[in-house]
Amino acid sequence: MDPNLATACKARVSAAAPSLDVEFVSGDCNEVIDHVADLLPARALTLAFVDPEGFDLKFSTLEALARDRRVDFFILFADAVDLVRNVGRYELEEEEKSKLSATFGSDAVWRPGWDSLADRTGPAVREYFSKLFAEQIRDKLGYKGVREKVIRSPRGPLYRMIFASKHERGLEFFDKVNQRQIDGQQTLGLGW
Ligand SMILES: C[S@@+](CC[C@H](N)C(=O)[O-])C[C@H]1O[C@@H](n2cnc3c(N)ncnc32)[C@H](O)[C@@H]1O
Repeated sequence: MDPNLATACKARVSAAAPSLDVEFVSGDCNEVIDHVADLLPARALTLAFVDPEGFDLKFSTLEALARDRRVDFFILFADAVDLVRNVGRYELEEEEKSKLSATFGSDAVWRPGWDSLADRTGPAVREYFSKLFAEQIRDKLGYKGVREKVIRSPRGPLYRMIFASKHERGLEFFDKVNQRQIDGQQTLGLGW
């Protein structure tokens, strides 16, 4: 959103990969998304890396990007760094200004389950809303499947990386890559 950061990004990309044809669009992603989507070739296989600091991304933005296009998503879902700290405030917001409705979609039915959720500890809150997010991506955006990985610090979980694809091949690739750790060793394939 900061034009200075966009300029710095441009300079770095040009230096690192001068021959690449890269389009830069600055602004609030929730406002410029239609323009971004228009830049995608209609039949392109696309990976959208969505890297917000908190719950800054609207579900309608994902919807606009995914509509009639083959877009896989890799999304930082800020459940521990934002949601767990702020959910007590978010749940009190009016519907029109609600961060939860914006994040999960205005048609997301989060309140009844939330109101009856007796366990409001961090793990239960993260589990409840990440499940809802995955359901919305599958059911409302028509994705084939959703995978997730909890990213932790030595002091506990920070956020989830969420991968979603409209095609089972995308999920297959992701599962294969996920079996290989950063140091190149194979995991036992027992999950995350
Ligand atoms: C975690 S950082 C991204 C880091 C980047 N992926 C990198 O590797 O350098 C999140 C960035 O998103 C920006 N941001 C937050 N809300 C935004 C929005 N609605 N539209 C566009 N950018 C936004 C923040 O200002 C911040 O610069």
